[in-house]
Amino acid sequence: MSEPILECRDLAKHYVEGGRDVPVLKQVNLRVEAGERLAIVGASGSGKSTLLNVLGGLDTPTQGEVLIKGQRFSQLNDNQRGRVRNRSLGFVYQFHHLLPEFSAFENVAMPLRIGGWPEAKRTARVKLLLERVGVDHRSDHKPSALSGGERQRVAIARALATQPDCVLLDEPTGNLDKHNAANIHALINELATEFHTSFVVVTHDEHMARALDRVCVLEDGMLSTLS
Ligand SMILES: Nc1ncnc2c1ncn2[C@@H]1O[C@H](COP(=O)(O)OP(=O)(O)O)[C@@H](O)[C@H]1O
Ligand SMILES: [Mg+2]
Repeated sequence: MSEPILECRDLAKHYVEGGRDVPVLKQVNLRVEAGERLAIVGASGSGKSTLLNVLGGLDTPTQGEVLIKGQRFSQLNDNQRGRVRNRSLGFVYQFHHLLPEFSAFENVAMPLRIGGWPEAKRTARVKLLLERVGVDHRSDHKPSALSGGERQRVAIARALATQPDCVLLDEPTGNLDKHNAANIHALINELATEFHTSFVVVTHDEHMARALDRVCVLEDGMLSTLS
């Protein structure tokens, strides 16, 4: 079997609140294969965002390991972890998290600047992505001058900028109306195929979940495969 892109083993995450230990993730095991499109569903408060943050190296687990292309996050220092996240992972959130002072173009270019891409290559890449997600005509607009759907398109372009192996999306359409959500879902499906990138999508939308390769449910701190 080929090496998974992203993997976690016996992952646990507890929060301490008011002196009390609150287990949110108890024992989570997951393998995400190259190009696989995975949905994670679960009740509000079941720990989906916590899981995505730990998988993305934004938060550390209480127990267990996260491996990205066989590399353990816990064995990397902060610099190395930052580099791996820049190169191998992309993130999309419910609220776009774009930088308000920067244009759509500059927002998508940011991970490439951080990754040290030369300007000509960077410009070509940003143009291609903005065109592909259908917001090239809004290139110079700041996030405040974009619609909700356009902002998420820019956020998706940014997440794909460095040609990551895996994009993690936390309720990417949770803030959109039905029509816009459906368009974004279709776009995510197309992009996953075109870019051969793995997608891990936390969603409440059953229609979206069913359209992906596999659906996992997070319940009682454990993740199981539904289909
Ligand atoms: N930083 C934190 N400190 C303490 N508790 C937290 C923290 N983040 C999340 N939680 C708790 O962990 C549980 C899971 O939260 P979350 O991962 O956001 O769930 P979901 O994304 O599935 O709605 C909730 O009960 C939440 O209150
Ligand atoms: Mg959440």
